[in-house]
Amino acid sequence: MAESFREQCSHPMSSHHHSASYDNPLLAELYDASETETLDVELLQGLIGDSGPLNILECFSGTGRILIPLVTSGHRVTGIEIAPAMAARAVEKIALLEDSARNRATIKVQDVLASNWGAGFDLVVLGANSFYELPSPETQERCIEMARSALRPGGKLFVDNNDYKGGWGRGPFGQERVIFEGAGDDGTYGRWTLENLRFDEAAGVLHMNHRWHTRTSSGEEHFSEYLGSKHPVTASEVSKHLDRHGFHILEFFGDRSGNPHTSDSQRAIFWAQKR
Ligand SMILES: C[S@@+](CC[C@H](N)C(=O)[O-])C[C@H]1O[C@@H](n2cnc3c(N)ncnc32)[C@H](O)[C@@H]1O
Repeated sequence: MAESFREQCSHPMSSHHHSASYDNPLLAELYDASETETLDVELLQGLIGDSGPLNILECFSGTGRILIPLVTSGHRVTGIEIAPAMAARAVEKIALLEDSARNRATIKVQDVLASNWGAGFDLVVLGANSFYELPSPETQERCIEMARSALRPGGKLFVDNNDYKGGWGRGPFGQERVIFEGAGDDGTYGRWTLENLRFDEAAGVLHMNHRWHTRTSSGEEHFSEYLGSKHPVTASEVSKHLDRHGFHILEFFGDRSGNPHTSDSQRAIFWAQKR
């Protein structure tokens, strides 16, 4: 299966220095159609409460699933997003908002690790498994460090990830699973699959092969594939990063309904304050 796919690819296998590339308009469209979760946004809105319009930075902002509701609630929000196709979709949706809301949103297309995030923010959001986009504990910690620089004194940080419990080393490896699949507005079919290749136990890094297949309504096909890697982060790692970079943990949830974190929790959601 893998061999036949490789033969069909128009490019030799490339390597992506982060977990995955979302830079394709159809992929962004399929992402939007399948990622419609609102619980995390409601949890975040509840934590913000009625503290007034805030100046918020959301890193890994994608198509604006979290950013847009924050903007429509009256906050000024800057998003940082590496994939132009994801950013473009967010910009299209922002353009449909009423004038005042539209003017409160800014999207910057850049790698969060490449440069400074700006300063003076009231809140930084690292939501929706942001850390699973990154290849190492060092890059994840770097985000916490950069969040600190971007926040005003007393500013808040929201970090929401799966709480890794181990076991990725047991596989399964060599099995392709579908991440997104479907047809876009123009009838083009797209399918993004992922195959776990190996887990480096010492470094705690999963190496994966991503495959992207499209077929237009007239039957023209395109195949591409690339390698990516990610570090599955634990609650205790995030907790240590927060402590090391001068954050006080105000709340620690184990799910997006706002229940307290326990050793069985599937998620690790931190609401922290810059000391
Ligand atoms: C799973 S999506 C989440 C998007 C959005 N926050 C949401 O909850 O719907 C992750 C996004 O992070 C972006 N991303 C991954 N690595 C990045 C990086 N190093 N810098 C900026 N954005 C990145 C991806 O392009 C993708 O749009």
